[in-house]
Amino acid sequence: MSNQLSSFLQKISESFNQQQLVKITLGNKRDKSADLKNVFIKPVRIKNTEKLSFTYRNPTQDIFKNYDLKESLILIEKMLQTDFYNADLFTAVNDLHLAIDKNDITKIITKPATLSITATTQQHDKQKVRVVNSTTAVYLHQLGITTAEGQVKKDMQDKFKQINRYVEIIEGIIKDIQFEKNITVADMGSGKGYLTFALYDYLINTLKKDATIVGIEMRDDLVNKCNQIAKNIHYSNLKFEKGTIQDAEVPAINMLIALHACDTATDDAIFKGIQANAEVIICAPCCHKQIRKQMAPENELKSITRHGILLERQAEIVTDSIRALILEAHGYKTKVFEFIATEHTPKNVLIVATKTNKTETAKQESLEKVAGLKKLFNIKTHYLETLL
Ligand SMILES: C[S@@+](CC[C@H](N)C(=O)[O-])C[C@H]1O[C@@H](n2cnc3c(N)ncnc32)[C@H](O)[C@@H]1O
Repeated sequence: MSNQLSSFLQKISESFNQQQLVKITLGNKRDKSADLKNVFIKPVRIKNTEKLSFTYRNPTQDIFKNYDLKESLILIEKMLQTDFYNADLFTAVNDLHLAIDKNDITKIITKPATLSITATTQQHDKQKVRVVNSTTAVYLHQLGITTAEGQVKKDMQDKFKQINRYVEIIEGIIKDIQFEKNITVADMGSGKGYLTFALYDYLINTLKKDATIVGIEMRDDLVNKCNQIAKNIHYSNLKFEKGTIQDAEVPAINMLIALHACDTATDDAIFKGIQANAEVIICAPCCHKQIRKQMAPENELKSITRHGILLERQAEIVTDSIRALILEAHGYKTKVFEFIATEHTPKNVLIVATKTNKTETAKQESLEKVAGLKKLFNIKTHYLETLL
């Protein structure tokens, strides 16, 4: 081992023992065709023991391992001899850049510190409570949610929270469902794909299931961008297609998702899900204009609907209640609950419908409840009824 490499490893050891180590990055791979692109190393406390957490960045997946200092130094030395030409050590005191050239001549450049301990330590604590690991989920970086080191960008904190909440909800919904081997999903109005990628990653990389997801989106630019990202990170069964929810031809699928599709586009999506006999339909409705225009109660409810803001809120409640009842009339069990707290997004209601065995009488009762609500608010038609 060269003196320079030995002194670099010594610095890692010292900074670790003095709790001044912020992070280490290994890069500039020796074999350009090798899959392993970078290794990111950070101190981590596990069961009251200080360790080093290694993130091995590969094209499709990050691998995450923890080692004690001794093991870490052996691994770093080996990787700098066989896998990488460069290493950066960031400490609270200074930054050290190690460069090895093709003749194995090693240099160290020392610069003033650019990172502080607290920022990284806090980040680690936050990551521990999230279901989505920001350093291992490669799609997050591709979608611009995290930095190359896996830190969630400041302006993406809410989006990251929403992704985590979504994955937690999905986890709860599908844990009791026996899907066939390949889970098929249509995501209507997939937009920038944040939640579509999150679902795919969860099914494939966390649950280790076979899954095929198609995102339907009317904007060309978003479709192209999402397809490119899926290709870059080898999410081979995740595709995005340009089209409208209304015209989409949805084959028999296991899950239909429609998150924040505007106004009646949510109804179009629910309709496609019922038609496709989806076992699970999940939608987060967004703007409820269709019913609001019709609501003109001729009873005590008038005292509520005469106020614009209350009319708007009432329209949301009635629209989504009728959606849930119509889903029940088609054999689904439904739950309506908060998606994510309103301080993060105003569009925060989720309707989750799962296929169940309902008697014809129960279905009929749901339809009667729809009729009752419509009568109460003097509503002529709910758009979803017209589709069905
Ligand atoms: C508010 S974004 C939501 C994106 C994503 N589902 C999410 O929740 O993060 C709604 C997306 O649905 C798309 N969209 C709206 N109506 C649509 C329709 N009828 N057919 C296809 N896409 C639609 C919009 O272009 C937009 O990208």
